[in-house]
Amino acid sequence: VKHLLGIKNLSADDIRLILDTADDFKEVINRPIKKVPSLRDITVANVFFENSTRTRLSFELAQKRLSADVVNFSASNSSVKKGETLLDTVNNILSMKVDMIVMRHSSPGAPHFLSRHIKANIVNAGDGTHEHPTQALLDAYSIRERLGEVGGKKVVIIGDILHSRVALSNIFCLQKLGAEVMVCGPNTLLPRYIRELGVQVELDVDRALQWCDVANVLRIQMERQQARYFPSLREYSLYFGLTKERLQRLGKEIVVMHPGPINRGVEISSDVADAPNAIILDQVENGVAVRMAVLYLLAQQQ
Ligand code: CP
Repeated sequence: VKHLLGIKNLSADDIRLILDTADDFKEVINRPIKKVPSLRDITVANVFFENSTRTRLSFELAQKRLSADVVNFSASNSSVKKGETLLDTVNNILSMKVDMIVMRHSSPGAPHFLSRHIKANIVNAGDGTHEHPTQALLDAYSIRERLGEVGGKKVVIIGDILHSRVALSNIFCLQKLGAEVMVCGPNTLLPRYIRELGVQVELDVDRALQWCDVANVLRIQMERQQARYFPSLREYSLYFGLTKERLQRLGKEIVVMHPGPINRGVEISSDVADAPNAIILDQVENGVAVRMAVLYLLAQQQ
């Protein structure tokens, strides 16, 4: 496999290889000397057409821990603003002897389009509402780390499923690893095709929480709403927000996840986000090792 465009076309063995390789890199980055020479002489460009904190910094740290040379590109302060196309932009970057492209783009399928036109390895760092494969991999890694395995676990993804690339990649990844997956949210934020993906659908968050071992909580993506959506943020928080009271009523402990950024007080309350059973910062920590594994494995395919 030359590119990581999504989880959909990976096998369970591909995913396990990435997670097992990430285990080795997690050990490396916890040592006093965090760097290995695995990607020395490889140059990677992080090409971001959308905002990012975790994914961009995590890829850059992963590349630096692997001793790659790194350049960062943000569309917002680039010649894209003067009308340069995606393909021209990337071809110009590749002319400077860049070997790998990590790209985030607002258009679903943008990295797939690029993969048909360029020779360099491509890693999809999120394409619109489509896929966010490294997020799903780090989520699966974090579940495995906390619960021992992913297979057989019940995971509910709660929130704005309609606009979420994290949801789609997580559904593919968790199912391939043998987890049961449920989605929960307002009907207006569930895609019509959702049942075709083999997931359970639950509109009542309390029933969803009672069912699950793990709750992965998503934010409402205000930037992707096509029209005025229902419910309002206040109503969403009331009916779907994870609160301490809601979790206490369960009579059991569940693992709480969130890909970030968090909107505290909307989809999750601060006391839930900061509780010991929330592994939100573990997810961020694991993102570096998982992205090291992805870059390392793709570099073998050049
Ligand atoms: N989880 C995630 O993709 O966060 P960023 O948008 O900050 O990269």
